[in-house]
Amino acid sequence: MGGFVLSSAFDSKSGQLILVTLLIMVASFYTGTLFGNKSAIYVQQTPLESSPASFNQCLILAGYSKITNKVALTFRRTPLSIPETGMNVCPLNYNEYIPCHDISYIKGLLPNLDISKKEELERHCPPIDKRLFCLVPPPEDYKLPIRWPTSRDYVWRSNVNHTHLADVKGGQNWVHEKDKLWWFPGGGTHFKHGATEYIQRLGNMMTNQTGDLLSAGVVQVLDVGCGVASFSAYLLPMDIQTMSFAPKDGHENQIQFALERGIGAMISALSTKQLPFPTNSFEMVHCSRCRVDWHANDGILLKEVDRVLRPNGYFVYSAPPAYRKDKDYPMIWDKLMNLTSAMCWKLIARQVQTAIWIKTEDRSCQLQNAEQKLLNICDAVDDSQPSWKIPLRNCIKLSSAKAQSQKLPLRPQRLSVYSESLNNIGINRDKFTLHTIFWQEQVNWYWRLMNIDKMEIRNVMDMNAYYGGFAVALNTLQVWVMNIVPISTNNTLSAIYDRGLIGAFHNWCEPFSTYPRTYDLLHAHHLFSHYKHSGENCLLEDIMLEMDRIIRPQAIPRLRVTNLTATQSSIALPSPKGERFLGFIIIRDEESIISRIKVIAPQFLWDVESHVLENEEHKSEPVIICRKKFWAIV
Ligand SMILES: *[C@@H]1O[C@H](CO)[C@@H](O)[C@H](O)[C@H]1NC(C)=O
Ligand SMILES: *[C@@H]1O[C@H](CO)[C@@H](O)[C@H](O)[C@H]1NC(C)=O
Ligand SMILES: *[C@@H]1O[C@H](CO)[C@@H](O)[C@H](O)[C@H]1NC(C)=O
Ligand SMILES: *[C@@H]1O[C@H](CO)[C@@H](O)[C@H](O)[C@H]1NC(C)=O
Ligand SMILES: *[C@@H]1O[C@H](CO)[C@@H](O)[C@H](O)[C@H]1NC(C)=O
Repeated sequence: MGGFVLSSAFDSKSGQLILVTLLIMVASFYTGTLFGNKSAIYVQQTPLESSPASFNQCLILAGYSKITNKVALTFRRTPLSIPETGMNVCPLNYNEYIPCHDISYIKGLLPNLDISKKEELERHCPPIDKRLFCLVPPPEDYKLPIRWPTSRDYVWRSNVNHTHLADVKGGQNWVHEKDKLWWFPGGGTHFKHGATEYIQRLGNMMTNQTGDLLSAGVVQVLDVGCGVASFSAYLLPMDIQTMSFAPKDGHENQIQFALERGIGAMISALSTKQLPFPTNSFEMVHCSRCRVDWHANDGILLKEVDRVLRPNGYFVYSAPPAYRKDKDYPMIWDKLMNLTSAMCWKLIARQVQTAIWIKTEDRSCQLQNAEQKLLNICDAVDDSQPSWKIPLRNCIKLSSAKAQSQKLPLRPQRLSVYSESLNNIGINRDKFTLHTIFWQEQVNWYWRLMNIDKMEIRNVMDMNAYYGGFAVALNTLQVWVMNIVPISTNNTLSAIYDRGLIGAFHNWCEPFSTYPRTYDLLHAHHLFSHYKHSGENCLLEDIMLEMDRIIRPQAIPRLRVTNLTATQSSIALPSPKGERFLGFIIIRDEESIISRIKVIAPQFLWDVESHVLENEEHKSEPVIICRKKFWAIV
C-alpha cells in the first residue's frame, strides 16, 4: 500500500528512474519504522528473510540487536575518555546539533554581540568543555535519504521535520508538504514560476538578449541567502557550480533542506567577518531577496562581494529596492547606486525585479574615487592568507595595472587549469599533473573497494583537498564535492576555485558549519596527521566525532526484493546486493594513526575495512574505509 500511495506523489515523467527510486523509498520506510518501543539503542545486523506476499511484504528487512552504548548528555572532558560501553549517544532532542550554531549557547553571548550586524548568525563555537561529546542521533523516523536526482524534488518529511518554511514560503513555491514528503517545485521568492525561466532571463540581461549565463562567462556562482538552493539545482544542467550559503535563522533549516536534496550548501552569514572563500573566486554573486542589508554600514558587505568576485564578475540583485517605489525602497536604491558607483561597479541591466552590476577593472576610476574619499583602497593584502575569522574590511582591492593574467576557460576545460597561485607555494606544473593522474587512479580504487553503484553517492566532502585532484577525478559522476582546505595548510583553495570547483576554508579543530547527516562520503587524506600535534583540545577523537556527526548512516544491510509483480518485474535494484550505500569515510594516513582509528572505530559504531594502496611516492599506504552504522534511539 505504501508504495502506491507514494507513487501518486510522482509524475511519471522519467519512468524507470523514478520507479527504482520509489522502490528504495519504500524500503526506507521500513527502516524508518523498524524501531518501535522506547528503551535502548539498536543496531541492525543480520538479514532476516520474510515471505513476500504483497508489494509491501516483498521487502525483506534487516534484523537488529542491542548495542551497549548509553544515551547520556555528555560533555567533552579533558583528559578525554571514551566509556567502556562505547561513545555515549546524545539525547534525541540533539538530533540537529550544530556545535558552532547552537542557539542555546549563542543566547548567552548575545549581550556581547552586535545584533544590528546580525553577528549572532556567524559561527560561535563553544569552548571545549561546553561542547557535547556524544554521538548525534538521527531524529525519530529517520529514513535513508532519497537518491539524486529525485531528491532534487522530493525529500523525506521526517528527515527535516520543520514546517515553518512550507508555511511561510509555500506561496512562493519554495516547498510544499506532500504526504510523507517535502516537494520542491523549484520556485523561489523571485522565481515563483521556476528557476529555469529566471536563469534564462539573467543570461539575457547580461548579454543584451543574445546569450545565456555561460556565454556571459559565468561558471562559478555564490548564492547568498540561498533558501532551499533551487537556484543552484537549476544551474546544474549548465554545469555551473554554485556555492550556496545561508545563516541558520528564522528560515528554519533551509540549508538542511538543500543538503538533503543533494545540493551543495553550507551555513554561513554575511555579518562582521569575511566569508570562508578565497578572493577572486566567483563570476557571479547572486542575491534573490537574500535579506542582507547591502546599503548599511557604508556598504561594507558589498566590499566583501567585491573581494570574492572575479574581475568583470556580476552582482545579481533581485529584491524590492530594485523595482519598488514604496516605503524606504527608493532611498535604499539610491544608496546602492551611490555605493556601487563609488566602487566603480557598473549597472548593466535593471529589468523586471532584478538589477545587475558588473565589477569593472577600472583602475583609474578606483584611484579617482579614492582620491575624492568616496572609497578606500585596501592596503596591499596577502591573498595567500586564508579568509578565516578575518573582520570585514571597508575597502576594495585596487585592480591590477596589467590585465588579469589568467583567462579561465569554461568547464570541463577549467578542471585542468594550473593556477598561478600554486607556483607561489612550490607546486610546479609537473607536480600538479602527476597529482591529477594520481587521484584519478585512487578514485578508481576507491570505487572498486567500496563496490557500489556510482549513483549511490551524491554529497561528498574532501576534508583536506590539496589542489582538488580528488574532486576532479569524481567530476564525471553525479556528485558534488565540498573541497575543504584546512587553514593551517598552504592555501590551495584559490587554485581549487580556478579549476572550477567549490570549497571552503576550515579549521578541523572546530566543528563544520553543516547539519548532522549531510554527507554520503568523507575523504580524509593525511588529515589526522596534519592535526596530530594540535593539542589537548583537538584530538583524533574530536575529529572523528565531527565526522560521525556530518556523515549519513549507512543503509540497512541486505535489503532485497523478491517476487515482484508483473509491472515491477523490470525494476533493477540499484546495486548488485540490493543495498543502499551511504556513510563512507575513507581515511588514509600514517600507520600509527590508522591503527588507532581501527581500535576506536567500534566505539563510534563504525565498521572498518582495511586496505593498502600506493601513495604518490609509490610506497604502501594504509587506507581504511569506515561505515557509520545505522542505529537509532528507540
Ligand atoms: C516467490 O517466488 C518463488 C520462486 O519464483 C516461489 O517459489 C514462491 O512461492 C514465491 N512466493 C510468493 C509469496 O509468491
Ligand atoms: C516533528 O516535530 C513535531 C513537533 O515539531 C513532533 O510533534 C513530531 O513528532 C515530529 N515528527 C517526527 C517524525 O519526528
Ligand atoms: C547592451 O547594449 C548597450 C547599448 O549598446 C550597452 O550600453 C550596454 O552596456 C550593453 N549591455 C551589456 C550587458 O552588454
Ligand atoms: C547619493 O549621492 C548623491 C550625490 O553625492 C547625494 O546627493 C545623495 O544624498 C546620495 N544618496 C544617498 C541615499 O545617500
Ligand atoms: C608551503 O609553501 C611553502 C612555500 O611558500 C613551501 O616551502 C612549503 O613546503 C609548503 N608546505 C607544504 C606542506 O606543502
